[in-house]
Amino acid sequence: MSAKKNIVEEPAPEGWGGSWTEQKLDAFISYVVEYLKILNKYPKYKTIYFDGFAGAGEKAYTTKITPDLFDYNIPEKYNNEVKIYAGSASRILRMEKPFHFDYYYFIEKDDESFNSLETLKSKITDKPLANISIRKDDCNEQLKKLAIALQNKNYAALIFLDPFGMQIGWDSFSKLKNTHSDVWILIPSGVAINRLLDKKGELNSIDKLEQFFGIDKDEIVNIFYPEKTKETLFGTDITFEKIEKPIDKIVEIYSKQLKTIWEHVSKPLILRNSKNNPIFHLIFAQFGVASRLN
Ligand SMILES: C[S@@+](CC[C@H](N)C(=O)[O-])C[C@H]1O[C@@H](n2cnc3c(N)ncnc32)[C@H](O)[C@@H]1O
Repeated sequence: MSAKKNIVEEPAPEGWGGSWTEQKLDAFISYVVEYLKILNKYPKYKTIYFDGFAGAGEKAYTTKITPDLFDYNIPEKYNNEVKIYAGSASRILRMEKPFHFDYYYFIEKDDESFNSLETLKSKITDKPLANISIRKDDCNEQLKKLAIALQNKNYAALIFLDPFGMQIGWDSFSKLKNTHSDVWILIPSGVAINRLLDKKGELNSIDKLEQFFGIDKDEIVNIFYPEKTKETLFGTDITFEKIEKPIDKIVEIYSKQLKTIWEHVSKPLILRNSKNNPIFHLIFAQFGVASRLN
């Protein structure tokens, strides 16, 4: 038996790795490969990669190792081994030819992550640095700017939106209709959104829900808290109860909204935590420039 089998290794810190993050990035990168294989055949299109929640790019972390009590033979290197977590920006920028975009935009609000992206950029040698932009800004503002640039139909953009929470405002999408854009969006279906749709229907953060779904309070209430009537001795009793399976409904409503902007919306990839509960859904929506060309 190898020594490694007797070691309990801690996962990367929250959000830097772990099986669902890897699953998400692997699915996305597989698509990027297919996308570029097609677009590369049509040089008339200038390709843009837009990462709206770019993160730090790469991060070094030290694994914390709990050795098996009966294992006296753990190699030194497994103790506090330094590993590199490669996030979306790193994976994209480190793709080799022919898997290059013409332009790259990485948007990040946080100072530390922004600086880390600049460091990553400085290590890239196989792409013109002038075509790699790192912007410290709110993704929503940059999405609106991207939509204006995409009015030029010779640009095709692949957009990756990977927030932890509900930071994407629905309005930021409206101008992307009829542009050559394909978008991958992570939605916190089982965590933030479902939590705001509280059991009692108090909806203390209704503004956030309205902005996220792009629908108003009445519609949200109708969908998630349908009216229930019950005849009692004293007349009709009306109650509003949160629906069963709210997470499925969240995904259904969001996908329906996406369909008003993009022609095709995929069945999402469900990302689960270690207890097998769905926490995020990764949805793909496309205008379909790649599939149209193929
Ligand atoms: C889940 S992480 C991104 C992970 C990244 N895609 C990766 O693979 O490593 C989300 C990032 O979005 C940033 N962020 C949060 N709100 C933002 C906003 N409104 N606009 C731009 N960046 C934002 C956070 O600072 C954080 O680094």
